Amino acid sequence: MKKVLLIGSDGMLGGELKERLEKNYDVTPTTLETLDICDRDAVFNKVKEVNPYFIINCAAFTNVDACEVKEDLALAVNGTAVGNIAEAAKENNSTFIHISTDYVFPGNLPIEQIYTENMKPNPVSSYGRTKLVGEENCKKAGKYYILRTAWLYGIRGKNFVKTMLNASKTRDEVSVVNDQHGSPTSTTTLCNIIEQIMEKEPEYGVYHSTNEGFTTWYEFTKKIYEFAGIKTKVIPLTSEQYKELNPDSSDRPKNSQLSKEKLKKIGIIPENYEDALKEYLKEELK
Ligand SMILES: NC(=O)c1ccc[n+]([C@@H]2O[C@H](COP(=O)([O-])OP(=O)(O)OC[C@H]3O[C@@H](n4cnc5c(N)ncnc54)[C@H](OP(=O)(O)O)[C@@H]3O)[C@@H](O)[C@H]2O)c1
Repeated sequence: MKKVLLIGSDGMLGGELKERLEKNYDVTPTTLETLDICDRDAVFNKVKEVNPYFIINCAAFTNVDACEVKEDLALAVNGTAVGNIAEAAKENNSTFIHISTDYVFPGNLPIEQIYTENMKPNPVSSYGRTKLVGEENCKKAGKYYILRTAWLYGIRGKNFVKTMLNASKTRDEVSVVNDQHGSPTSTTTLCNIIEQIMEKEPEYGVYHSTNEGFTTWYEFTKKIYEFAGIKTKVIPLTSEQYKELNPDSSDRPKNSQLSKEKLKKIGIIPENYEDALKEYLKEELK
């Protein structure tokens, strides 16, 4: 069995990935308690000790709004620390799989157009800026995959779908932004993509890794309620209206639609976001 060092194994993605990979790989999981990725010596020591074939980094500072007020910490975790892992990977000849985000793009592309891997990132938020530093640092590994995902939800973490399900318990209507376009992505789909990347070991580089299909947060909420049989009314908001109601919130890209053509060319076909949502709700509402 190939050895895997799985960093951030108690996060929303990391927790599910750990359970999945343990069936086929010799996995060493780490959490913030057992390995702080900002501690460069600890990262190098852990990589030397485990001697992994793959290093997967699911750790990050993921609270997009909090990144605006704690940009130093966000940069340390999402940016600089990724360089620690990449350089340790290079020294150990390990392949580094790192998770990034649609928020590296500015989102000002017309809605009829979608972002490909070779388009120039230019983030509008602290989270996006720090994750972009992480992408650049990741490349120091030499053998690397940067998987840009988006609008992630899963059984193990706080996420948008759970927030909307909870809101429906106490409210007759919810207001949701309708001018940000992207692909909601289930952790199950992302785990499938990661596993296939590990099996196929395609050309190193950046791969857009989301569910297929595009929507807005408003339309996505309507789908969540439709599939869950919930009657709560959904009211569309513009990003500007949302910002007025939540002045401390971070700016978010209006268009973060990512092309999956590169992934499809290597035979990895992500399922449609509606099918992934149905599967998730079956589990979540059990
Ligand atoms: N969630 C989304 O919508 C979304 C969208 C696009 C991309 N992504 C990316 O997808 C990946 C997985 O996201 P997720 O939602 O699964 O994240 P998550 O649930 O927030 O998990 C991240 C984990 O990283 C840990 N962590 C934080 N600082 C650390 C440090 N210095 N050293 C070691 N561990 C540390 C956190 O520990 P604590 O909880 O104890 O702080 C947490 O367990 C991330 O790279 C994220 O940027 C997520």
